[in-house]
Amino acid sequence: MQITFRDAADSSTPRLLARIVDQDGLPADLSRSDAEGAAAARFTGKTGQVFESFAEADGRIVRRVLVGAGKADADDRPAALEKAGAALSARYLTSGEKALAIDASDGKLDARSVASVLLGARLRAWRHDAYRTKLKDEQKRTLGEIVVLGAPHGAEAAWRVEEALAEGVELTRELVAEPANVIYPESFVERVKARFEGTGVEITILDEDEMRALGMGALLGVSQGSARPARLLALKWLGGAKAGKPTVFVGKGVTFDTGGISLKQPAGMEDMKWDMGGAGAVAGAMLSIARRKAKANVIGVCGLVENMPDGNAQRPGDIVTTMSGQTVEVINTDAEGRLVLCDAITWVQKEFDPAAIVDLATLTGAMIISLGHEHGGVFSNNDRLAENLLAAGKASGDKLWRFPLSPEYDKLLDSPIADIKNVGPRYAGSITAAQFIQRFVENGTPWAHCDIAGMVWADKAGATWDKGATGFGVRLIDRFVRDTVEE
Ligand code: BES
Ligand code: MN
Ligand code: ZN
Repeated sequence: MQITFRDAADSSTPRLLARIVDQDGLPADLSRSDAEGAAAARFTGKTGQVFESFAEADGRIVRRVLVGAGKADADDRPAALEKAGAALSARYLTSGEKALAIDASDGKLDARSVASVLLGARLRAWRHDAYRTKLKDEQKRTLGEIVVLGAPHGAEAAWRVEEALAEGVELTRELVAEPANVIYPESFVERVKARFEGTGVEITILDEDEMRALGMGALLGVSQGSARPARLLALKWLGGAKAGKPTVFVGKGVTFDTGGISLKQPAGMEDMKWDMGGAGAVAGAMLSIARRKAKANVIGVCGLVENMPDGNAQRPGDIVTTMSGQTVEVINTDAEGRLVLCDAITWVQKEFDPAAIVDLATLTGAMIISLGHEHGGVFSNNDRLAENLLAAGKASGDKLWRFPLSPEYDKLLDSPIADIKNVGPRYAGSITAAQFIQRFVENGTPWAHCDIAGMVWADKAGATWDKGATGFGVRLIDRFVRDTVEE
């Protein structure tokens, strides 16, 4: 979606012209037919509500739209403005119209509000049509441009910041939406690398030999049944103080999770193409952070593997030695995400001396049972970090809910033969998964684990996403960095 700003309407202004209106605050300058038409259609300006009319102006037919942004003084005003923009995209994406004008010249929206509307419009307009070769004309996307008219001073600059965020969300959605024959560890790295050209992000890639030399037996154990070699990808953005310790984000990047020898059921297994949603979110967030040149030292690390059953795959009962030196009894090869994360987390601690570590992972089905598709779960050894993440979730719309950790849960992972086993009993499955990861956090480094299994994919359209890949996590990380890491 191309977004441009102009001072005023002229003959090249798109004929589709929208205004953002507050609830119960219809503009006083509406034509009689618009005012009465809106009333007759019960349009009151509720968030996302749309009213459309046609009129003749200067010899041509224009399509006029009112879109509701809810109450002007609502607490969730930025989100409501995004929804207003999103409603416009949803309505006109395949309408036949190529361009949409948003008239901001009545001065009711400040610069940030304009940016919020645009962010919602852009995010809701994202689609992944690459593999649809037989779309009918009326199913094809037409809308490709938004022209903002008469926006207040600073709106364009405010939009540049949100545009960086949108780019990150879109990268994540693309990575998540692509099937596993297209996105596997090596191609994930290539796709991401191409997108970071010219951003100033320093990229490090470890191959299997390098990981073997480092002793990453847990990560490599997951990968050993796959024909696709594993990769560890680090994206480094040092935009903050020279000596400042970095904040490190670690993503689970299982590009396909069959379960391995502990094979999953066939029904719904195709969903496991998005088992790299944590890594996808980390990559997307790094792009946003770099694109807006955040004054912060942030590193994103993606642990990339494919979990397959094979003659060479690891077996239940195998014992692997992690990079930390701890041994793990692999009871269930389908509990692979934690095996990838533990080595990635050990590596980032040795390599970067992080101020804090936040991991994101589609780690457990149990998390979906707990929270459904409304919140991700967050676990942390540090109350301040947890609170900052919860606040960033609230502010960004990528909501989190905190879960407990304790020695009693930790004990459930003791193994009779190794230091730890990779699964506990059936109950509290999301918590024991988090406890597993915590065993690899050294010296009380502030750490949080976000289990986003229920959030990266949506079966129906939401506020600013269509059904499919949501891009969850990018806005969370970006907001967290803006509010608590940036100088
Ligand atoms: N990737 C899955 C978790 C998952 C399941 C995410 C369904 C989204 C939807 C993870 O690797 C997994 O298989 N977890 C197991 C753990 C169990 C074996 C302890 C699970 O949740 O069943
Ligand atoms: Mn699994
Ligand atoms: Zn998995």
